Amino acid sequence: MRTDTPVTIQRQDYTPYPYAIPDVTLAFDLDPADTRVRLTMHIARQADAAAGAPLVLNGESLSLESISVDGRPLAETEYQLNASTLTLLDLPDVAEIEIVSHCKPDANSTLMGLYVSGGSFFTQCEAEGFRRITWFADRPDVMSRYRVIVRAPKTYAHLLSNGNLIASRDIDAERHEAIWEDPFPKPCYLFALVAGTFTKRECTTQTQSGRSVLLQVYSDPGSENRTQWALESLERALKWDEVRFGLELDLDRFMIVAVRDFNMGAMENKGLNVFNAAYVLADPHTATDTNYEAIESVIGHEYFHNWTGNRVTCRDWFQLSLKEGLTVFRDQEFSADMMAADMDDAAAVSARAVKRIDDVVTLRAAQFPEDSGPMAHPIRPESFQEIGNFYTATVYDKGAEVIRMQHTLLGEAGFRAGMDEYFRRHDGQAVTCDDFVDAMESVYRTQHPKRNFDVFRRWYRQAGTPRVAVTLDYDATARRCTVTLAQHCAPVGVEKRMQPAAEKLPFHIPVSIGLLDRTGAPLKLSFEGGEHDTVVLELTEARQQWTFENIDAQPVPSLLRDFSAPVVIDYAWQEDELALLSAHDTNPFARWEAGQELASRQILAVAAQHATGTQAALSDAFVAAWRALLSDTALDAAYQARALALPSEKTLAERMSPIDPPALAAARDAVRDMLGRTLRPDWQAAWDRSQTPGDYSPAPVPAGKRALKNLALTYLLAGGDAAAADAARAQYANADNMTDSLAALGALVSYAGDDARTQTALDAFYTRWAEDPLVVDKWFALQATARTTTVDTMRTLMQHPAFTLRNPNRARALIFQFCLNNARGLHRADGVGYAFWAEQVLALNAINPEIAARLARALDSWARFTPALRDPMQHALTSIRAHPGLSRNVQEIVSKALDLAA
Ligand code: TRP
Ligand code: ZN
Repeated sequence: MRTDTPVTIQRQDYTPYPYAIPDVTLAFDLDPADTRVRLTMHIARQADAAAGAPLVLNGESLSLESISVDGRPLAETEYQLNASTLTLLDLPDVAEIEIVSHCKPDANSTLMGLYVSGGSFFTQCEAEGFRRITWFADRPDVMSRYRVIVRAPKTYAHLLSNGNLIASRDIDAERHEAIWEDPFPKPCYLFALVAGTFTKRECTTQTQSGRSVLLQVYSDPGSENRTQWALESLERALKWDEVRFGLELDLDRFMIVAVRDFNMGAMENKGLNVFNAAYVLADPHTATDTNYEAIESVIGHEYFHNWTGNRVTCRDWFQLSLKEGLTVFRDQEFSADMMAADMDDAAAVSARAVKRIDDVVTLRAAQFPEDSGPMAHPIRPESFQEIGNFYTATVYDKGAEVIRMQHTLLGEAGFRAGMDEYFRRHDGQAVTCDDFVDAMESVYRTQHPKRNFDVFRRWYRQAGTPRVAVTLDYDATARRCTVTLAQHCAPVGVEKRMQPAAEKLPFHIPVSIGLLDRTGAPLKLSFEGGEHDTVVLELTEARQQWTFENIDAQPVPSLLRDFSAPVVIDYAWQEDELALLSAHDTNPFARWEAGQELASRQILAVAAQHATGTQAALSDAFVAAWRALLSDTALDAAYQARALALPSEKTLAERMSPIDPPALAAARDAVRDMLGRTLRPDWQAAWDRSQTPGDYSPAPVPAGKRALKNLALTYLLAGGDAAAADAARAQYANADNMTDSLAALGALVSYAGDDARTQTALDAFYTRWAEDPLVVDKWFALQATARTTTVDTMRTLMQHPAFTLRNPNRARALIFQFCLNNARGLHRADGVGYAFWAEQVLALNAINPEIAARLARALDSWARFTPALRDPMQHALTSIRAHPGLSRNVQEIVSKALDLAA
């Protein structure tokens, strides 16, 4: 394994490529052991580049057969070749270059470039995988038209690439050929090739302009009954982008191919999306409600990239959030609209709130810790060593929040006008985040002639989660309420090391608020010439005040409604105020938040009580609030399931200093147990009323019922209800769908694990699904996160014949689930958990650096943990850094953790 010397790339160092490469022809002779690639391209020197400027091409793990310029083969002395570049000097201003190279797909375990999975060929080129296929200008601002010739044995029945199929023919009795042309110029990261024998499901549909387009989903033979949901989701995505954004599919044919070995969720290659099979295949017996939802969301995401990513792409990889933040925002809105489809207004508001809650839960669990740790970076990073490490929660999810704030500031119609302007200006270009904000700002300025986005742009430059402190001053005589907002954002990550220390400027924060009277009724707020229940305060300075008149009594504030900005609110609510909000807030998101705040305080209090040896108890206000939520049958079940779920350990850890994960896990369990016991009849009632007889449907209403039913089951079991264990066993035995089956098994493993029948059920589950990798992943994941699982259990599970580190889904199911989501198993003062983690990071480092680096991030925040854990964590990180042959990916993560965490 090669050791890379880390080189830090700076955003400010961007320079344009000196040549245009208008067209590319690629000819592949596919062979798993030795694939031959012939690249032919025309180059033309850019007007502002120096004559004879060197043509530097990237290449990795390739062997060179020949190079020629304008038909003349080059001698070895006429080019410079090193491990990562091929440089041609003294070229004419225009030239045709041909390069023939070879690569070894079946030896490629990185899953970047051209590789073999399940006997078929697949490519993954984003961000820098194309250089493993051929020498090329592997950067997103070089856009070319591609013609692709694929030749392979006929045992690979389908030969696919981007765009339109131009011709196909038999070469001889054994081999055949297909020729594809993509009419749209694209960066090489959007190139794709797939060759294999698949089953396919397809349909044709009409676009809004009346064109007929072919939609296809390819997957492994035998999975033909599991692709209906994916194809339907794709059709819904097409329609949605037309209706909401006026954006139409620009190709005659759009293909999705499912693959088992894949580093991430999916990839938006032009006209040929490649998907992790986990985000394509679903039937009721093998996929959960959550899987169905994720499939629809990822299919939407990749499809929406066709405009936000492909038609308008990134100038350089520092601009990644330009396409990812925007496309996540679009997929979130798509899912919200699908969840609210065919509902009346009130139900639709609640359904959309459920989606918002889920997205905010993810943001807080994954992005907030990132933003306070050693890898903290702005959504548009200033520097990186390995771009693969910057496909982060910050770039994706906080990036989506930054787009959402622009949507909030402009309104739906204004945002749409801004999007139209963005495409009018930049269709067919590779652009920057600033270009996007410019388009949005042009609309904002027409709405508010005196305002601009100068301050707003700081969201792209500064890292960290701002805190907004809120104070309310009520003047009874004047019947006036003054709201003061003060923001602060401490330097984080590399900002702390800047000399002089990075000075952070105020952010432009839209803070959506309402006020309730003491009966819980909403107050009308006079603001900008109207009367409103909700107002958006635009905080752009360190501290600002707003005054509301005609307020009869001290109000209760409902703050950051719909999570209008990715910030933390500091406000000293009394418990009874939170209870009031939890019972009455008309904003369902803020209502959920109030209940979660009560629960967070409760769990943290129990953790503190345990630490001092005090007997823990639940506060009356908390129990009353949760009983009220649980018995409010006017709420829909999906919403109730979110409102009654305990905040995650990861979210709670952000409020604990120093962090003590086992103590937190124990406190959270104790609160669940007490709630299960105290509210037993209410859980039972919820369980009874949430049954979903009849055929399974993944639709939001029945899925919501299953979520509530299974949550109630967990609380009942946790509370020691013996009948609940029988109910769980019955549900497991009789379930006709994976959601109920897995929930029952999970509850049994967590709360009835010492019963021999639980192990029997686990064994039976494996036996039944042994042939189905996606279900076997669930089986591994369930055990990896079980409360009783230790490092020893893990070592036994790794001996299981079905386990392999080479398949990322399997590694994620077992290793990542344990290291990221099993606090008790991992966080031990004797360090065995961390030693296990380090061992797996190194094992993966040799196979797949991208995946290894993701696992390496598990100990990012080590410096914030209790001293007893901090030392063994640091030791494990140090042992990785000392390892020879570390990939650039892992090296960057571990070095930043050790150097920047404290
Ligand atoms: N661009 C893809 C998306 O967001 C994700 C992606 C980036 C990816 N790099 C990857 C997928 C590497 C697989 C492997 O949809
Ligand atoms: Zn994406």
